[in-house]
Amino acid sequence: MEASVALSGTPGRVHSSGNRPQELCRVDKGDFPRFSLGLDEVNRVLGGGLVPGSLVLVGGEPGIGKSTLLLQISGMMADKDKTVAYISGEESANQVKLRSERLGIEGTGIYFLSEPDLAAVLECLEQLSPQLAVIDSIQTMYLEDVAGMPGSISQVRECTWRLERWAKQKNVPLLITGHVTKEGAIAGPGTLEHIVDVVLYFEGERFSSYRVLRSAKNRFGSTNEVGIFEMSDKGLVEVANPSQVFLSGYKDATMGSAVVPTLEGNRPLLVEIQALTTPNSFTPPRRIANGVDFNRLLLIIAVLIKRAGLKLFNQDIIVNVTGGLRVDEPAVDLGIAVAIASSFLDARTISGLVAVGEVGLNGELRGVSQVERRISEGMRLGFKSCLVPRLKSKPSIGRADIQLLQAGSVAEAIRLGLVREGNRERVKGESREQE
Ligand code: TYD
Ligand code: MG
Repeated sequence: MEASVALSGTPGRVHSSGNRPQELCRVDKGDFPRFSLGLDEVNRVLGGGLVPGSLVLVGGEPGIGKSTLLLQISGMMADKDKTVAYISGEESANQVKLRSERLGIEGTGIYFLSEPDLAAVLECLEQLSPQLAVIDSIQTMYLEDVAGMPGSISQVRECTWRLERWAKQKNVPLLITGHVTKEGAIAGPGTLEHIVDVVLYFEGERFSSYRVLRSAKNRFGSTNEVGIFEMSDKGLVEVANPSQVFLSGYKDATMGSAVVPTLEGNRPLLVEIQALTTPNSFTPPRRIANGVDFNRLLLIIAVLIKRAGLKLFNQDIIVNVTGGLRVDEPAVDLGIAVAIASSFLDARTISGLVAVGEVGLNGELRGVSQVERRISEGMRLGFKSCLVPRLKSKPSIGRADIQLLQAGSVAEAIRLGLVREGNRERVKGESREQE
């Protein structure tokens, strides 16, 4: 009787895997013991540390520092007397040895294998039974029995699946790297995001030494965390006070500059936005955006022309985020607008000012999330005035010595945030007497 029930496929059929539904309230949530690493910035992004059995993908452009990061993590695990398997399909043992010496990693407990054949890699892992495995990179691995070249979608996917199964079976954390290019490579980390447990992206501008590690997916923690590093001659070093670092060259109340309290994940971070406007009557005006979104810059310039009356149509405009950082959130809009206006009007920002707000097409200023945290970060670094969109309620920042300048529009924000000297170009709505 039982057999016929099973064959007919009616509900209640028990599959051979032996898995049965469990009432959720009876499920033991278990706990994820985590290996805490020596780098707090990495722990934070991982949600507290490495979870055994988890498959972590570290994606980033070539040369950004993925191999360096994973070798440093390997070193930290080895320092805790864990056995680490470090498999590279890209580099030879000598190359990795040279790098590890530079990083001050002695290498006891780290077993290196240069092997692109994943079947051989899995065999090696079987014999070694490490407590951490690293695969650098997933695009160099291949399986004989799968069609396609190494790096093709089918190879990369199948290799990742097998590694995922190995990690889960052995309950060992596994870190893999994946290359992404600016154009978004085929078979890049994007195609693997659903297979792996954690996806981290390692980002940074090519000529800057700062790196941001961002979590795009985390089955064991929040994705709002970022880690900030500097690439030094001894590898990646944590940046404990990033706002201070990114403002290191900043001089108060300069022309063409604005400080913006941005949020990197959950973390407030002060960045300096610089702008330079120069007249150009001969060619179509050029706009250059370094570290901010180009289309966003065009939008802000259009708003400044149309809604704030700034005659920017014959000006070349360059905008730059210092420190080589990239900021994409709309909350930096106002900072960009103020920096451009400051350069164009030859007007300094008022002393100790931070500016934050999103700019709308009608020239209105829109609210931003977590205004209080942003203001607090500004205050922490000694800024005394905050230019913000109109707030619905008084922010609880617990300090009376902070000057809140609330503006409803970009034009109003420029009037409030800049110190006007002499007879300069006027912002819309500004009368002569105000000058
Ligand atoms: P790498 O980890 O090889 O990048 P990826 O694996 O993402 O391709 O790092 C590449 C760059 O980092 C390389 O240009 C040299 C630089 N670097 C340092 O500046 N300091 C160091 O200590 C190390 C190991 C690398
Ligand atoms: Mg590498």
